[in-house]
Amino acid sequence: ELSPIDKAKFVAAKKATEYVESGMRVGMGTGSTAAWLVRCLGEMVRDDGLRIKGVPTSTRTAELARNVGIEVISLDEAKWLDVTIDGADEFDGDLNLIKGGGGALLQEKIVATASDRMVVIADAGKEVDALGAFPLPIEVIPFGWQTTQALVEETLVSMDVLGRNSSLRMNGDAPFVTDEGNHILDLHLNRIGNPRQLALVLNQMPGVVENGLFIDICDSVVVGHGDGRVEVRD
Ligand code: A5P
Repeated sequence: ELSPIDKAKFVAAKKATEYVESGMRVGMGTGSTAAWLVRCLGEMVRDDGLRIKGVPTSTRTAELARNVGIEVISLDEAKWLDVTIDGADEFDGDLNLIKGGGGALLQEKIVATASDRMVVIADAGKEVDALGAFPLPIEVIPFGWQTTQALVEETLVSMDVLGRNSSLRMNGDAPFVTDEGNHILDLHLNRIGNPRQLALVLNQMPGVVENGLFIDICDSVVVGHGDGRVEVRD
C-alpha cells in the first residue's frame, strides 16, 4: 500500500506514459517522481512490447533505467528527443518551474530544451502561486565558488529580491558534487517576483553554470493527488 504522496507521484507518472509511443526517443528526469516514470516505462518495455530509446538526466536515472530494461543512449546519440518527462520542485500557473532539488538541473535543462515536448509530473503539493518558497538551486563552478556566491548575493540585494541568503549544498561534511563536477548554491528567496529576469541575470554571472528556473520550457504538468486523481495542465 502506497502512502498518499507516493500514490500521487505514481498516478502522475503512470498518466504521463500516455505521451510515450514506440519508436520515440524519451528524456528521463531525475528524482523520486521521475523514478516512478522510469519503472512504469520499464514495465511497458517488458510486458507490452514498447520500444523506446531513453536519454537519462543523471547517473542515478541511467542506472535505474538500465536495471528496468530500458535501452539507454546519450543525448548526442539521440540528437533530439520526442518528449522529456521529469519531476519538479515547484510549478506555477504559467507552468514555469523550480528544479534541481535533486542536483541534476543542468542535464535536466539541456535534455528538456532538446525535446519537442516537456511533460512535468508532480504531486499537487508542488503547485504554487509564485515560485521561490523552495530554495532555488544554482550550479556553480568549484573554482572561486565563494566569490561567485558573494556576487550572486550582492546582485540579488541590488535587485531587491527578498531573503537574499544562500547556502552551499553539502553531502555530509563535503560540498555536494554534481554529475558535471560542480557545486550547488541554494538561494533562499521566499518569493520570486520576476522569474524570467532572475534566470537571465543569474546566467550572466561568471561562475554560474545554470540555474534551476525553467521558463517557457514545460508544455504540460500532470498533477497527481493522494486519492489517485490526476489532472493535466497545459
Ligand atoms: C532533480 O534535480 C530535480 O529537478 C527533481 O526533478 C526535483 O527535485 C523533483 O524531485 P522529486 O520528484 O523527488 O520531488
